[in-house]
This record gives sequence, C-alpha cells and structure tokens, in this order.
Amino acid sequence: MIRTIPPANREALEQGLRRLKLRHMREHLDDINELALQEEPSYMDFLGYLVVREVEGRERTQRETRLKSARLPFHRTLDDFDFGFQNSVSRQTLLDLAQLQFIESKENVILLGPPGVGKTHLAVALGIEAISSGYRVQFITAQDLADQLYSALADGSVSQTMNKLLRNDLIILDELGYIQLDATGSDHLFQLVARAYERRSLIVTSNLDFQDWGQLFDKPATAAAFLDRLLHHAHVISLKGDSYRIRHRLVPPMTASAT
Ligand SMILES: Nc1ncnc2c1ncn2[C@@H]1O[C@H](COP(=O)(O)OP(=O)(O)O)[C@@H](O)[C@H]1O
Ligand SMILES: [Mg+2]
Repeated sequence: MIRTIPPANREALEQGLRRLKLRHMREHLDDINELALQEEPSYMDFLGYLVVREVEGRERTQRETRLKSARLPFHRTLDDFDFGFQNSVSRQTLLDLAQLQFIESKENVILLGPPGVGKTHLAVALGIEAISSGYRVQFITAQDLADQLYSALADGSVSQTMNKLLRNDLIILDELGYIQLDATGSDHLFQLVARAYERRSLIVTSNLDFQDWGQLFDKPATAAAFLDRLLHHAHVISLKGDSYRIRHRLVPPMTASAT
C-alpha cells in the first residue's frame, strides 16, 4: 500500500513522542530540525541520529537516577585521587578494580587503614565507575545500616530492608570499625554478608585490622563467620600513611611560619 506522508503537525508529533515516551526526541525537536536542515542527511542517517539521541539521553538520565539513589557522601573519582601522596596502593591496582570484573564475579573489596588515608574516597570512586557502567550501587555507613535494621525490627521489616539493599549490585559499607554491635546488630550484619556472599559485591572500609574485628561483634564466633564470608573472595587493600585531611590543613600555616 502506498501512502503519502502528510506534513508534520507539531502538536500531533509531540503528543506521539510523549505517548511513546521518547522524551529526548521531544525535548530537542527544534535543534534536531535545525540540524537536519543544515546537514541534509539521508533519511536513514536522520533516523539513526534520532535513535542515538534518545538512547544517549535515556542512559544519561538513568545514570543520574542511579547516582542519586546510591547516596554517595561526595563525588570524587580516581582522577581526583593523588597516588603520589597515597603511595601504599598503586594506581594500577585501582585501575584494574575500576574494570569492575570484581562486580561481575561477586567479589568484595576491603579497604583498611587509619582515618584520612582515602578509604572512603576510593570506595566512592569505584562506586561511581560502577554506576557509569550501569550497576546499581548503595553507599551506607555501618552505623546507619545498624540503625536502619534496628528500626526495621520494630515494625517487622528487617528482611524487607535487607532485600532492598541486596537488590543493588554493589553495596559500599563504610566505617565498619567505629561501632560496637550487640547480639541483634551482630546477627543483622552477619545475615547481610551471608546473603550477599557470592551473590553481590561489597566494598567495606575499616580503620581496624582484621584481628581486631572481633570487638565489633558480640561474640568472636560471629566475627569469625562474618570474616569467613567477607574474605573468601576479596581484594584487600591496606592504606598507610598520614591523613590527607590533616596534611592539607597543615601545609599553609607551616609554609607561612617557615618564611
Ligand atoms: N590520596 C588522596 N588524594 C586526594 N584526596 C585525598 C587523598 N586521600 C584522601 N583524600 C581526601 O581527603 C579526605 C579524607 O579522605 P577519606 O577517603 O574520607 O579518608 P578515610 O575514609 O580513609 O578516613 C577526602 O576529602 C578525600 O577526598
Ligand atoms: Mg572514611
């Protein structure tokens, strides 16, 4: 059947694009039209351009949504990290992790070290890489996690809270080391790691060496079972050295007093 193509009716076109949920095409109708008039592409090229425009726009929006829902405490990347200052870990190790094979293989990353050496920064940077590659990420401090699960206990929604967390491909558990858990808290944390084991990836940061993790839990046996799951498939990175925060706060006055 031969059909004639009717002239475009702007309103109908916008309405159609809205119904098809082609938001990026709809919002850029004028630029798209202008570009087509300038470049006079073939019809096929023009269609290709429209599709790419929509796909890219949608991916950008989805990335932003994932970024927001990850609740990262700040936005810092591997490019922002000074590997000259923090030389107990190689840039290559981080670049390898940024390939994200560890997420595909459901492995964990453990970042250890004293305050200010860049544990959270590196965890966030890997989180941003993961988000850019389409993974769902959730950042939570160990304290917030313990609090959330405690309040969930009150209304019987512990497993719901945990399921929601486990829907992410990567869970960043920050500052495991500044809390002391009772029997319930210990059990919650153990349950999370046991359920994530070989199903999801965790990045855990801590100021404690492994031998001191016993003090986080109510019983040494829970700590041992927790570490067993956590470390079975894990990349452990120990950061050393001075706090970047303190060093960078001290530099200006020291320079001033030296002159
Ligand atoms: N090597 C580094 N290069 C750039 N910034 C750094 C470095 N190490 C730490 N920082 C910055 O210093 C601050 C503290 O780092 P953070 O990752 O929070 O430390 P930690 O979690 O180990 O206590 C953050 O603002 C972080 O971006
Ligand atoms: Mg930190």
